[in-house]
Amino acid sequence: SKWMNDPNGMVYYDGEYHLFYQYYPDSTVWGPMHWGHAVSKNLLQWEHLPIALFPDDNGWIFSGSAVVDWNNTSGLGKNGKPPLVAIFTSHNSTGEKAGRNDFQTQSIAYSLDNGRKWTKYAGNPVLKSPGIRDFRDPKVSWHEASQQWIMTLAVQDHISFYASPDLKTWSHQSDFGKESGAHGGVWECPDLFPLQVPGSKETKWVLLVSINPGGPNGGSATQYFVGNFDGKTFKNDNTAGTTLWMDYGRDNYAGVTWSDIPKADGRRLLMGWMSNWQYATTVPTEKWRSANTIPRELTLKNTPAGLRLMSSPVEELEKLRGKSSKIDAQKIEGVVDLSATLGFPAAQMEAVLEFELPNDSSADLGIEVSNSKGERYRVGYNAATKQFYSDRTQAGKTAFSTVFAEKIHVAPRLVNGNIVRLHVYFDRASAELFGDDGATVMTDILFPNEDYTQVKIYAENGSVQLKSGVFYAVKSIWE
Ligand code: FRU
Repeated sequence: SKWMNDPNGMVYYDGEYHLFYQYYPDSTVWGPMHWGHAVSKNLLQWEHLPIALFPDDNGWIFSGSAVVDWNNTSGLGKNGKPPLVAIFTSHNSTGEKAGRNDFQTQSIAYSLDNGRKWTKYAGNPVLKSPGIRDFRDPKVSWHEASQQWIMTLAVQDHISFYASPDLKTWSHQSDFGKESGAHGGVWECPDLFPLQVPGSKETKWVLLVSINPGGPNGGSATQYFVGNFDGKTFKNDNTAGTTLWMDYGRDNYAGVTWSDIPKADGRRLLMGWMSNWQYATTVPTEKWRSANTIPRELTLKNTPAGLRLMSSPVEELEKLRGKSSKIDAQKIEGVVDLSATLGFPAAQMEAVLEFELPNDSSADLGIEVSNSKGERYRVGYNAATKQFYSDRTQAGKTAFSTVFAEKIHVAPRLVNGNIVRLHVYFDRASAELFGDDGATVMTDILFPNEDYTQVKIYAENGSVQLKSGVFYAVKSIWE
């Protein structure tokens, strides 16, 4: 219930995935920020826990991260138990209102009981502002090669890297990004992590940077860079002028990855806030505002243009599959209504489809879900423009915002070839597309006046071959 934005402090410890989040418990619109808290043992079912961090004299609790301080570098651990340490931005709203420029500082808090009780460090803030108004969202990780903590911080139009031996004292290392990537808005909520280059032992560093506004389809979105990080500076491999987007939908913002996933698992897992600052505070929900994306695994892929970031739904999600409906391989020309054969409502389902396009096709193919009110949502691929798209222009309620349904969202295709795969999760008020096995991702929220009950697949402007197709009912995680 109430207001939520960015996921924060995502850390895995002692069998639990922790998810903190920007939370305002008194209203369904943004206000004095707290860290709400939930835990999960399997990334599927989440248990609500009491609010972890409340505003204090240093300010409201803005976004940040959490780590397990395994070696007790901070000295905050006790009796051999490593502390969980949260690193966040203290946002001093009084200072902001007074017109000061130093109202954002970084603070820490720690927990010795698996994240249940948190104590703010007496020496806060641990990093003061250099007098830049946008100075926030610390993402901290242990840098193995240089044996120190690295803080990746969003500073207005660039990223600053800080280093620390103990999470309490921080020294500036370098800046990145003033001349790289997209700059249509302020930089926020960064993340920095290594990923293996497929087919090699080489590791590359991925830098995620959320930006608001300036996203590819309007408003807030998350761009990324691939390069190297040596404990001091980040070197971008992308050629000048390249902007890469993690998700081309309008509703995946401020996503960052979990810290301390065990080595034996080894995955890099991300969750994003499924909204957009363009309309987040006015979306037509009553008791709650905002949900998160499904958890995703991030990997790198070699493409002709260079290394690119792939996102795929975590495999745990397959456990939520209920009844399934297999679609026979067939030629698709026009619209094929599958509603009668589906056997479950289209509102909450997963679709896994593979199409083969003829050479030089200009077909427009996809999935359409709709309801008895004539509201419909389409997600698909248009071979004429070589773009994936997500069309919520007629999906339901739109009047709450002048921009929500202003256009069809589009995304370039990263890979070539005649095989197009659509993997889509529909969850009543959201659709998450993983195109081409996650090479192109689009996340959009929707507000139908009535649940979608019907599903169609289509190919217009030319025929295509459906090679395989299956729809799954997705079980609720709350039952
Ligand atoms: C991103 C953001 C962060 C900030 C937080 C405040 O959505 O603006 O930069 O820390 O939200 O709630």
